Amino acid sequence: MASKTALRLTVPAAALALVLSACSGSAPSDDATQADLETAAAAADPEDTIEAREDNFKAIAKSMKAVKGQLDSDSPDFAVISENAAEMAANAKKVPDFFPAGTGPDSGEDTEALATIWERPEEFQAAAAKLITATDNLNTAAGAQDLAAVKTAFGEAGMACKGCHDEFRMKKKD
Ligand code: HEC
Repeated sequence: MASKTALRLTVPAAALALVLSACSGSAPSDDATQADLETAAAAADPEDTIEAREDNFKAIAKSMKAVKGQLDSDSPDFAVISENAAEMAANAKKVPDFFPAGTGPDSGEDTEALATIWERPEEFQAAAAKLITATDNLNTAAGAQDLAAVKTAFGEAGMACKGCHDEFRMKKKD
């Protein structure tokens, strides 16, 4: 993790250079606020964004597995389903924001995101919207303790994962 720390430390300098060059040689004005610097830092560090979105997907997968565990049991625990469905729904809503330009395969970072995400942004957003809808439905069904509706929404969520991965994620090497 040492290299990661080093990278983090260099980011503010890189961000400052970006902001300064944007001023095309003139002295940095007061307009270059902390917020500007932070925006530049985020854009300058695709690695952090990629890592955060992978963690978010891992969390979604973990919640999904927990729900599946309950659905496979003889007496599903709605408290566990609800807790995980709520987390899935919250994390699903973050997905669209985790794919800013510059965080694809040409970033040079380790990512399974395909360039198709930025080539067909409307389709990608629609694929993300399906996951958001399905996980919201799952959350609602879990709250209502409606097992049939939970199963339906769980199936929809699974289809949403597959639908997006088929088009927008690198195929797993076998
Ligand atoms: C809108 C598109 C989309 C949807 C919907 C989606 N994924 Fe993904 N998923 C991706 C992309 C793109 C990646 C690759 C991210 C990267 O490597 O930068 C990914 C990566 C992953 C990963 C690997 C994370 C890692 O450690 O690298 C897991 C696990 C995962 N998704 C699970 C799921 C599950 C489970 C669902 C459904 C509940 C789901 N995804 C729904 C697009 C999607």
